Amino acid sequence: MHVRFSAVRPEAPYVLALPVNEGPNAAERIAAALAAPRALVDRAIAAARFEGDAGAITELFVPSESAAEHVLLVGIGKDATAENCEKAGAALVARMLTSGATRLAIDLAAANAVSAEAAARIGAGAMLRAWRHDVYRTKLPAKSRPSLEEIVLVGAPDGAIAAWARHEAVIAGVGFARTLVAEPANIIYPESFVERCQALASLGVVIEVLDETAMRAAGMGALLGVSQGSARPPRLLVMRWKGADREPVALVGKGVTFDSGGISIKPAAGMEDMKWDMGGAAAVAGAMMALASRKAKAHVIGLCGLVENMPSGTAQRPGDVVTTMSGQTVEVINTDAEGRLVLCDVLTWVQRNEKPKTIIDLATLTGAIIITLGHEYGGLFSNDEGLANQLLAAGTASGDPLWRMPMGPAYDKQLESPIADMKNVGPREGGSITAAQFIKRFVDDGVRWAHLDIAGMVWASKPGTLWDKGATGYGVRLLDRFVADNFEG
Ligand code: BES
Ligand code: MN
Ligand code: ZN
Repeated sequence: MHVRFSAVRPEAPYVLALPVNEGPNAAERIAAALAAPRALVDRAIAAARFEGDAGAITELFVPSESAAEHVLLVGIGKDATAENCEKAGAALVARMLTSGATRLAIDLAAANAVSAEAAARIGAGAMLRAWRHDVYRTKLPAKSRPSLEEIVLVGAPDGAIAAWARHEAVIAGVGFARTLVAEPANIIYPESFVERCQALASLGVVIEVLDETAMRAAGMGALLGVSQGSARPPRLLVMRWKGADREPVALVGKGVTFDSGGISIKPAAGMEDMKWDMGGAAAVAGAMMALASRKAKAHVIGLCGLVENMPSGTAQRPGDVVTTMSGQTVEVINTDAEGRLVLCDVLTWVQRNEKPKTIIDLATLTGAIIITLGHEYGGLFSNDEGLANQLLAAGTASGDPLWRMPMGPAYDKQLESPIADMKNVGPREGGSITAAQFIKRFVDDGVRWAHLDIAGMVWASKPGTLWDKGATGYGVRLLDRFVADNFEG
């Protein structure tokens, strides 16, 4: 499916959608846009209780000589905010994607005060909601297959096409991340994850890959300890986008392509979910795609620590002590607390080699963050007020929301080990916070750092506004916005 902009309605056949504001003039505007009798419109919207709230849809069939017989009214709220418009675009696609219709014309003729950005966001919502991963469905009946091929946005104000170009780049990144997340662990493992990301080279992203030998030489004992139980060799993927000559921002993703728990093995029920334990790495890869696609004037380095966490005769054992690249030692109490063991060595590597002053890590790190925040917010931990506020703002603006969590020495103390510099788990209580404290021990003085625990956000078990069940692409829009607002000025 694609989106295009036009001053006039397209050739037949198409289904017509009219975005409609909440408010007293709705019926009059709809009647005018349809050249339909006002009384008919009044009766139709009253019968459907259509009031124009964002994303609400009512279907009409209008007796007409013209092509526009099949009409959808879609609400955009009182003031047609970008967020409302995105919701409306998504709702239309949720309704029409497999309807049999191939073209949807979204005509702004009945809408009031839709800005260029808001108009583009109708397209963004539509494209985000249209994403699916059907590659393994060989028996999908024809009527369950997507039919919609084209969305024509009619009558958008000047500037909408430019705004759309930016969103289109970001949506490509979101789709890339979603595919990586949706693919099972027999398809996406460290080497194949890297292979897929080679596609970014054609956008100008410079790719470097460290294999096991290189990581051993660098002394990444914690990351390699996680990986040693798996038949799949680990990788460290480094993606560099230099769209401006300035100091770099580093984005670091947890890329555990499957988390069985290792010797501290997880229960069978739901273990299949752990194919998406690379959602942080996917968000970083998707963000790099977005930034490069829209030629962001920023210097960003994306890193993905890629391993598989498996139990086997070569797996690390509870009680093992590993030496991290930083030189600090860790007693591995629980082999299922593996994400932090991967992230700590990637953080040390990037600080030694690139000296970034700002680092954001993203990780499906703890089940505890899902208990705390559910599926509404990613958890934000940071050592810097300014950075935390920048991320909170980007979260709200982008649609990938964050909630700040506390940190402090009392939590840090819970990581003390009788044999090593620290253990890899604290008590059950406050499990997301002690996980963040663990990572913080690997952040150098003077570096602004934030950790985003996105375990509740990567995968949806029920349909949402912008996605069906499955991969959400959380983090891509957030990182793109964070970079756009703070590192491109
Ligand atoms: N990948 C999991 C966290 C997770 C759990 C993500 C459920 C999404 C859904 C992580 O590696 C993990 O296993 N964490 C443990 C930590 C514990 C052993 C301290 C957890 O949350 O139970
Ligand atoms: Mn785990
Ligand atoms: Zn994990």
